[in-house]
Amino acid sequence: MEEKKKENDRKVITAFWPDKGQTTLAEYLDGGGFSVFKKALAGGIKPADAIEELEKSGLAGRGGGGFKTGTKWRLAREEIKKASPPKNSSVAHAYFICNADESEPGTYKDRLIIEKCPYLALEGMLLGAWATGTEKGFVYVNGSYRDTAHILRQSIANLIQAGWLGKSIQKSDFSFEIQVFEGAGSYVCGEETALLNSIEGKRGEPRLRPPFPVQKGLFGRPTLINNAETLACVPYILKKGAGSFKMLGRSETSFGTKLFVLNGALNSPGVYEAPLGVTLRELIEDYGRGIPAGKELKCVQVGGDSGVLYSLEEIDKPLGYDKKSEIPVGSGAVLVIDSQTDLKKLLLAWARFFRRESCGKCVPCREGTYQLFLLAERIAQNKTLAGDRERLEDIILTMGKASFCAFGSYAVNPWESALKLFSKEMFGQADS
Ligand SMILES: Cc1cc2nc3c(=O)[nH]c(=O)nc-3n(C[C@H](O)[C@H](O)[C@H](O)COP(=O)(O)O)c2cc1C
Ligand code: SF4
Repeated sequence: MEEKKKENDRKVITAFWPDKGQTTLAEYLDGGGFSVFKKALAGGIKPADAIEELEKSGLAGRGGGGFKTGTKWRLAREEIKKASPPKNSSVAHAYFICNADESEPGTYKDRLIIEKCPYLALEGMLLGAWATGTEKGFVYVNGSYRDTAHILRQSIANLIQAGWLGKSIQKSDFSFEIQVFEGAGSYVCGEETALLNSIEGKRGEPRLRPPFPVQKGLFGRPTLINNAETLACVPYILKKGAGSFKMLGRSETSFGTKLFVLNGALNSPGVYEAPLGVTLRELIEDYGRGIPAGKELKCVQVGGDSGVLYSLEEIDKPLGYDKKSEIPVGSGAVLVIDSQTDLKKLLLAWARFFRRESCGKCVPCREGTYQLFLLAERIAQNKTLAGDRERLEDIILTMGKASFCAFGSYAVNPWESALKLFSKEMFGQADS
């Protein structure tokens, strides 16, 4: 019991997860939930101080990009303050969106955040809305996750009934409402500007930036968008302080804990909360309980289907947000690939996914994902043509540099690293 408590003290998110089912609102409140939000509403914390605390914590966005959350909130607060009122009365002054889309294969931590303890991310969202002066929120979920949307709607109804959401929350002068929006299960709609288009009922295509969503987002209004895991870290930081959060991590540059989705050749795959700065070896051996007997590690992909492949020599490097000294953690999905896995089939599956999901707005990605798929088919069938290796290098360069949004460079990430590590396997001896 004491051991479990000590372990939970080092956890920001999973400490609230029950073994089965969901944490009820009563259990969340019993465990200290909403205490910091209550303090905020009572004037015990000032919005600017809350944002400063987040900035001090070094919390980096958990949606993949790693943008500093405190900075984003500060910018949003400034934009919201200076924005003139909307001309159309059906449009809110500013919006707050929790991005729980997560349509990338192999990644399901945000889904668990909502399904295990939705109140944590919802409290983070309420704190964000209060700190920045936002009056209306959306939680964007993948439409094929029916249970997730249902749980969210139920939790929102519970919060309204208990006076934690709606008009004059806990009799304060702060009001906030949250709506659940079910997307169409499109990967690119997780990209923040495509997500905005999707909520507005337009094609799910990314928008040109600037203007950034904090300047001109949903329905043209200042909009703050955070990943569900980012928001789930906020109550801990504002309750226990930036220093406590920082101390949870093991890195000089990346702070706190992170959810890792461990997939592939492991004895115990699943979602684990680990300190940032953890190595791939530790994730595999200590959290995933090692590779099944009779299998050998070939490489590890970090960051979902769009992740880079890392060789055995790199598995002792720490994971984090510092591009120079750490393996970029991305969304936290880790795929352990053993030597019996046919890499060519994996490459084909990834290429098929990105060809299907490309929104088609820009030529480098629309055409590049198609050419990549044709090439992947030839590689998988051992029928590569003369010049295919150079063709692949061209595609990687063009998509990586000229695509309209980050989807293009994401799609070629695994290919660039596969080419470095396994070109003989892909193209045979003669062409490598
Ligand atoms: C193709 C693509 C897909 C994305 N999918 C998601 C997603 O499913 N969830 C998410 O939070 N962020 C996703 N992002 C990142 C978002 O654009 C955005 O940076 C993020 O929601 C911001 O939240 P954060 O600062 O808390 O990380 C995606 C980005 C791209 C380019
Ligand atoms: S890179 Fe271009 S085609 Fe691909 S998803 Fe982004 S905008 Fe759409």
